[in-house]
Amino acid sequence: MSNKPIAIAIDGPSGAGKSTIARILAGELGCMYVDTGALYRTVGYAALGRGIEATDLAAVEAMLSEIRVELTHENGVQQVWLNGENLGDRIRTPEVSMAASAFSALPVVRQYLLDLQQDTARKQSVIMDGRDIGTVVLPFADVKIFLTASAEARAERRFLELQEKGVETTFDEVLRDMKERDYNDSHRATAPLKAADDAILVDTSECTLEESVALLKNTVLKALKG
Ligand code: DC
Repeated sequence: MSNKPIAIAIDGPSGAGKSTIARILAGELGCMYVDTGALYRTVGYAALGRGIEATDLAAVEAMLSEIRVELTHENGVQQVWLNGENLGDRIRTPEVSMAASAFSALPVVRQYLLDLQQDTARKQSVIMDGRDIGTVVLPFADVKIFLTASAEARAERRFLELQEKGVETTFDEVLRDMKERDYNDSHRATAPLKAADDAILVDTSECTLEESVALLKNTVLKALKG
């Protein structure tokens, strides 16, 4: 058997359960889980902290030349670092979600994060989730999955998640943000969210978490044998 690292790409809209499912699956398959949304969130967080708007391209470029974004894994858990500082859950607020969506539409930001993502997949077997992993970042991935669910099912999951974290919000607000981000992510000119031609479509609208994990695991194992 070759020692070439395996790459599994999971793309799909926010709240489809990509990160939760991919994290569990990575543990079961012995791969590293890489959450690329966290990288865009880090750029969004950096911009918010500096008061930079996504429309001010010169300021964005200047910021990118100043910041250092790094990715590490501690006991299989991904950490993102901004200029040597571990940001932890600070990148998970609704404000940072919106900023990540806005800044991820900029080609300079996508280019800035591309090498980091590709280098990570060169070094070890990965399950990488995002929006353009199967289409742009890892076009030669061994398995490509497009994981989706209805906007309502996704908003419901995200709402429960935010409630558990004590973030004050309403279901309607979460659903509105979700639809706005879906629109932004799939209508931007650069690397819009879309399934790769050779991606396998998996819809988890009607599935519990356990069912989604089992469905995805079977799909991935079958495709790897394939
Ligand atoms: O997966 P997430 O919700 O953490 O992603 C945050 C934002 O980053 C989301 O609005 C889309 C963007 N993103 C992207 O454009 N490309 C990726 N590979 C991952 C995320």
